[in-house]
Amino acid sequence: MLVFVPPHPLIKHWVSVLRNEETPCPIFKNAMAELGRLLMYEASRDWLPTISGEIQSPLGPATVEFIDPREPVAVVPILRAGLVLAEHAASILPATKTYHLGISRNEETLEASVYLNKLPDKFPAGTRVFIVDPMLATGGTIMAAIDMIKDRGVANQHIKVVSAVTCPPALQKLSEKYPGLHVYAGIIDATLTDKGMIIPGLGDAGDRSYG
Ligand code: PRP
Repeated sequence: MLVFVPPHPLIKHWVSVLRNEETPCPIFKNAMAELGRLLMYEASRDWLPTISGEIQSPLGPATVEFIDPREPVAVVPILRAGLVLAEHAASILPATKTYHLGISRNEETLEASVYLNKLPDKFPAGTRVFIVDPMLATGGTIMAAIDMIKDRGVANQHIKVVSAVTCPPALQKLSEKYPGLHVYAGIIDATLTDKGMIIPGLGDAGDRSYG
């Protein structure tokens, strides 16, 4: 499994804004959306199929390369907070479809349960999927999402996970279960409490985004 934390000062900046308990809700949302835009940009590098051809520029012929619109690309935000992290996905990725997945974690048992599923019965062949969730803590939520997406015909190597903050327990489980997976994160924190909270983390991203 590949885990990539892009070494970019803007990513560090937005993670720092998110970490600050003084950051008010609208600024928190804006920071999460900006972080998502940067992470999606990094995650899409070398991954989106392109098509090349010849066009005329105002000054003469040019060989050009566009994103191939025939190759399906999907974004799956995990509600609630994944909606904010995925807010700029459509401006980063041309011709993207969004499929919402609502999964909540039980605060006592830490079990993930699905309450909204807008995934197709089967993804079109070759679909590349970005799963967007701000936090990978125990890993239960993201693994539930990955399994649902794989059950609908998407190969391991066509799934990328985009997350604001994660920690070793989630990454360990993911690497054992999905060896070919790629994870892009804003930061990896060291500690997960027995209540499933990443330390220092960001707090509850859903509550901080929506109050
Ligand atoms: C949080 C977070 C992840 C999940 C991570 O969501 O946004 O989806 O918990 O935890 P896990 O890795 O231990 O499964 P939450 O259930 O709080 O829902 P919310 O986004 O609606 O607040």
